[in-house]
This record gives sequence, structure tokens and C-alpha cells, in this order.
Amino acid sequence: MSSFFTNENSENPVLELDDETPVPAQGTVSEAPSLNESAPPPSERSGRQINLVVIEPDDFARSQLLVQLGADVSSFPKVEDLLPYLNGESIVLVLGPSCAIDDSLSGVERVLHAHREIGAILVTEELTTSLLQQALRSGVKDVLEAPVDDTQMHEAIDRVAASLALSPSRRRGDGATTFEDDGELAQVITVFSTKGGSGKSVIATNLGVSLAQRSEKPVVLIDADLQFGDIAVMLKLVPEHTIVDVVSSLDRLDVSLMQSLLVTHESSGLLVLPAPLEPAFADQIDAAEMVQIVEVLRRFCSHVIIDTPAYFNDVVLGMIEISDEVLLIAGMDIPSIKNVKIGLQTLHLLNTPVEKLHLILNRANSKVKLDVAEVERTLQISADILIPSDIVVPQSVNRGVPVVQSSPRSGVAKSLQELASLFAPAAKSGRRKK
Ligand SMILES: Nc1ncnc2c1ncn2[C@@H]1O[C@H](COP(=O)(O)OP(=O)(O)O)[C@@H](O)[C@H]1O
Ligand SMILES: [Mg+2]
Repeated sequence: MSSFFTNENSENPVLELDDETPVPAQGTVSEAPSLNESAPPPSERSGRQINLVVIEPDDFARSQLLVQLGADVSSFPKVEDLLPYLNGESIVLVLGPSCAIDDSLSGVERVLHAHREIGAILVTEELTTSLLQQALRSGVKDVLEAPVDDTQMHEAIDRVAASLALSPSRRRGDGATTFEDDGELAQVITVFSTKGGSGKSVIATNLGVSLAQRSEKPVVLIDADLQFGDIAVMLKLVPEHTIVDVVSSLDRLDVSLMQSLLVTHESSGLLVLPAPLEPAFADQIDAAEMVQIVEVLRRFCSHVIIDTPAYFNDVVLGMIEISDEVLLIAGMDIPSIKNVKIGLQTLHLLNTPVEKLHLILNRANSKVKLDVAEVERTLQISADILIPSDIVVPQSVNRGVPVVQSSPRSGVAKSLQELASLFAPAAKSGRRKK
């Protein structure tokens, strides 16, 4: 049986790859459970089974990592040595400090690019901005500075494992090619309103999740409410990276670096670019930078959805300008309609083509005593979608689970699915009703 544990007891700890080699590293390792003959043994953390592999050419550094990570972890001197053993299962690589040099990282980049089922963490002696950028660009998901304590290490491993669990490429079972730039540009959809609390973020998250469930290609949701964005909270995400990281890497931003900076909403596969964690960072981001980010995203996605704050600023105007479609969200109350009317006038003044504007009336119930036809007459635009008011919405927001997932049979969820149908056909499974 093939095995690929490093034999720490031999003179040369480097792995022998032939089938005859008896290779238990140390007594404790040999009985480690395997997914199959050639897969790395899984580790158990937070109830999740994780295949962990250490890559480090230096014997001493490698054995130190093995001591920290536990005996059932495989190790190789070079990332390429792992290739014969890959079987499509998810693997988290812990790259030792010697991997932080150019040559090793380009090997890592090739392997990670070809195998989306592998995620990597780099442990380095010295964390510099340029190393961080280089590592992220190579597809490494996290960089930790030594000494790394156990909690830090296990949290990073869990995060990477979670991001692999349902990444779009794995959901489709094709291991490698889904994040490619195929020359087709994504549809860019901005969700906007001139009134706070009108439901922009609720609509943007649900639209994102619905489209991600329907689309073969990745769908990205950008939180362009840079000061008070709450997309991450609404989707219960713990952002590893935010727009700030993307902006600070703009000079080398390409599809692969961008992919490594997105956060995956596991249950739908939606990719999220969260707003900065601190409102103060918002000032550091300008419209040109946001446009550049969207341009990179649209090269490998089917849809890029942009949630916005409730006012016009340069970033919002930039987003509206490059969008193919703009969803104008209006609540069913007089102040909301008044503000949307002013917003529409502003958009006309800015020469925004009316064809790309879609009016979405939120909380549109008969109980609110405002007639939809009258609202449409006032705004001189007809509503594309009416979304009812329902207690399941705040409930879903508080649970961090979008209503299309938490209450798929509710009227709200059906309206939101109808909205998604404007931009992509219904789910392939045919689950969706008209
Ligand atoms: N259709 C709806 N029915 C009931 N409550 C809603 C509906 N849409 C939005 N809400 C509530 O309004 C709050 C504000 O929505 P949000 O999407 O955060 O607004 P915005 O992003 O425009 O400021 C949400 O927390 C949600 O509870
Ligand atoms: Mg919002």
C-alpha cells in the first residue's frame, strides 16, 4: 500500500514514494485512518474532518510543525511531491517557513491553481507586506507569523477547510477550472436606494444567494456600503479579508489574487467582498479603485452584485455607471417614495440610461394603504418586483440566514426568487416555482 508519511526515524527523512517502502513515520502515525490508499490521513477539529499536509524542505522545521499539528499529519519536502496522491478530496496544506521563498511559492501557485480542492496556510518567520501579497497572489489563503500558537493555527486551518468545503469548483465536482477567465463578462447589478432601511442589504444578500445557487460560474456580492456595511453580519460570515486588503493589493490585482481574498458563504457558494471592518477605512477607498475591483471580478463571475449606502457619493456613482442593471429599492411609505423620486431625478441628470433602472417596491402589502399604481404614477416608472412585508425577514436577518434559505416557501422568498429570475434562469434542479 502506498503511504507518504515522512520517516522521521530514517537518516534521510525525505519520503520514498515507491509502493514497497514501509513508511510509518513514528509508531503513532501508522494506524492513522485514511480516506483511501492514497489520500492523506484526516484530522479531526471542530467536528470537521480535515486532511492536513505539512510542506517544508527543512527537516527540523518540518518536525516542529508535525509536533504542533499532531502525529496523524502527512508531510513532504516539496508541494509537487504531493501530486501523485491527490484524489479530489479537500486538503489543507501548512507550508513551513522555507516555502516563503520565490521558487517554492511559484510551485505552490501552480499546484493551488490546478487544484481548487487544496487550500494553503503559510507559516513565516517574518511577515512583510510584500510576502503577504506574494503569498495571497500564489493562492495561499492565510499567512501566520511564527511562533504560531495552537489556537491560531487551528483557527486558520478550520477557516481554510471551511472555505474549501463548498467552494464553487467543488460543488460542481470538477476540481480545477471553474474560476477561469473565459472572456465573458459578468452582469453587474447595483442595489441602491436614497432611503436607509429600505431593504437594500436584505435584497442584495438574497439576490446573491439565489443567483449563486443558479449559476455555474461564481457570483460575487460586494459590500460597497463602506462605512456601515453589514453584508458579512447578514450572512454570518467572519471575514478573513475585506475590500481594504483588495485595495492595498491593487497594483498586482489579478483574477487569482482576487479569488484568494473573497470570503465564501458556504451554504450557497456565494463569494463576498466585505466592507472594511472600521468605518475610518472607508475614506481610503475611492471610486476608481472600486471600479478596478469590479473589472477584475467580472472577468470570472456570472454576476457581480453591489450593495450600497443610502446616498450618492463618488463610489456609488462609479458603481451605478459601470452597472448593467440598477435596482432602485423603495419602501411603501411617503418619505421613501419622495426620496426615491429625488434619486431618480438625480440619476436622469447624470444621464443614467432608464433601461437599466428597475424599481423594486419593498414591504408592498395591501395593509400599508399606499397604492402600487399610485406610487408607479408618482415615480413615472413601473415596478418590476413587489416584495411583501413579513416578519420572517427580520427573523432571518437576526439568524444570519437569508430568507430564501430560511423560509423558502414564504411570499418574500418567492418574490426574491422572482427578482433573481430577471437575471438568471431558475435553479437547475427545477425546485423553484414561478
Ligand atoms: N420585506 C420586508 N419585510 C419585513 N422586514 C423587512 C423587509 N425588508 C427589510 N426588512 C427589515 O428592514 C431592516 C433594514 O433592511 P436593510 O436591508 O438592512 O436596509 P438597507 O440596507 O436599505 O439600509 C432589516 O433588518 C429587515 O429586518
Ligand atoms: Mg444596508
